[in-house]
Amino acid sequence: MASEISVNVPDLGDFKSVEVIEILVKVGDVVQIDTPLATLETEKATMDVPSTAAGTVTEVMLQRGDKVTSGALVVKLAAAPVGAAASEVVQTPSVAPTVAAAVTPPPVEGTSRSMVTVTVPDLGDFKAVDVVDVLVKPGDVVEVDAALAILETEKATMDVPSTAAGRIVEVLIARGDKVASGAVVVKVEVLASASVASASAPAAVAVVAPVVAPAIAAVTQSAQPQPVGSVPVLAASSSAVRSVIEAGKAPIEDVGFSRAYAGPSVRLLAREMGVDLGKVQGSGAKGRITHDDVKNWVKRVLVGAPVASTGASLPRVPSVDHSKFGPISVEPLSRIQKISGPRLHASWVNIPHVTQYDDADITDLEATRAALKKETEAQGIKLTPLAFIIRACVQVLNKHPRFNSSLDDSGENLVLKQYMHIGFAADTPNGLVVPVLRDADRKDVYEIARDLALLSEKARSGKLTAADMQGGCFTISSLGGIGGTAFTPIINAPEVAILGVSKSSIKPIWNGSEFLPRLMLPLSLSYDHRVIDGASAARFTTDLSRALASTTGLLEAVP
Ligand code: COA
Repeated sequence: MASEISVNVPDLGDFKSVEVIEILVKVGDVVQIDTPLATLETEKATMDVPSTAAGTVTEVMLQRGDKVTSGALVVKLAAAPVGAAASEVVQTPSVAPTVAAAVTPPPVEGTSRSMVTVTVPDLGDFKAVDVVDVLVKPGDVVEVDAALAILETEKATMDVPSTAAGRIVEVLIARGDKVASGAVVVKVEVLASASVASASAPAAVAVVAPVVAPAIAAVTQSAQPQPVGSVPVLAASSSAVRSVIEAGKAPIEDVGFSRAYAGPSVRLLAREMGVDLGKVQGSGAKGRITHDDVKNWVKRVLVGAPVASTGASLPRVPSVDHSKFGPISVEPLSRIQKISGPRLHASWVNIPHVTQYDDADITDLEATRAALKKETEAQGIKLTPLAFIIRACVQVLNKHPRFNSSLDDSGENLVLKQYMHIGFAADTPNGLVVPVLRDADRKDVYEIARDLALLSEKARSGKLTAADMQGGCFTISSLGGIGGTAFTPIINAPEVAILGVSKSSIKPIWNGSEFLPRLMLPLSLSYDHRVIDGASAARFTTDLSRALASTTGLLEAVP
């Protein structure tokens, strides 16, 4: 039978009534030695209570909001089968040395040239600690407490904070170095308005370090060194999650990260996941970032949803209880809408869209199409306006190859495509889909019309395969069969342009001597202004209008 182990709050020194601000485990969780169980917070420090044993949580004795003192029971564990004595009560000092004394203030040496040397703080028993990251370079301007480097032992990760505000003149450690207490990290030239933390640091830290650090990892909100224990692993594979995050994330902004209001284990989790804490909104007390906030941020990135962040983030739409104002019913979005929504949003917020409007005179085209209708229908082909529009777009894309391109992942190169697969938005009972008509440049208008009909039917009957919707170069969204005069189509990223088509109508067009009734087709071309400038877009729609004004070129066989 598994033996029971109690894990208690470690020695909190003089602190008598410390608030529990987060419970990190629940009954049934399997924990290891050092897994954080709960987070406590004093006025000066936030600290995790690490497990002192490996086992399964059988009872959680605390809840958020409780006030605790040293020795309070945190959880009961059923010990892991190997090596645990019956009814063992494990006291915390045994785990303390792993991170002991890490918050001792780093020494600061002023020089006559107002240079400050920032050194590795007292690392207690650790003699050769790995430098896993150096966060600054010469020329960077740092504030007091800005994280300069990250050190890591087998058990803990800690930031080395700057003790001065100023410009980095020299960086004396590199990733992969082994350092001990007192090793020089950087030299900082103190700026005129900057203050050195040497005078205030010992006093501030003294409150925290001597009493809290010996027992558990303690971190103040104002970025003292941040030792942490091991953290629970996300249910999903961390490496898989991390690789997805890596693929789409912006680099971590170190000042924002170090200033984020989060405990040590949350910081380590964030670093492991590649999450920039500076961008995560905290849901804990006073805006503190919790483990769940980091995990939820990761989940949102995984599904491509926008991530709420601080700073220059998107403001949130206020939440409204609509039922307060009248009866409502709630309907879930369709599967297609749930998939396409985040993608449309990503395009809208990432691409600087501009829409160029124009009208094409399709009087002659429509006359020809009407004349061909019977004949083509006899061959089983529905020659719709969209087939001609695609044929015209192919011709114009050949002349304007930038419209058939994508930015690469770095955003610094244009990938120009030698093929021409044209997507078209199709309205289906389940929502909007975009089938892709392959090799449109190698097909005449009849072949295009046939493919259009096949793909439209597949779309409406929900039979499109993933391959049918991939590889598009340029998209057309035709609302002409429905109505409207103009709209702003959203670019189907990573494409760089999309053509919106609205309903044609007869308009009086001045030919230089008189107004003539002409059938005009409204075109709305949205383009990525990072790739295409306004003049090119105007040339594109002008050429497209010209191509649509005559059927001669459009009916020609493809060479
Ligand atoms: N102006 C006037 N009439 C037009 C027109 C235009 N621009 N485009 C099409 N029509 C007419 C057609 O001539 C046809 O009439 P007809 O049968 O008398 O010839 C009718 O509208 C219907 O055409 P449709 O069968 O829809 O063929 P299509 O090839 O034009 O369009 C789809 C096919 C799949 C694109 C279309 O059915 C569709 O789903 N459109 C909606 C796209 C959408 O939702 N876009 C919004 C994305 S945000």
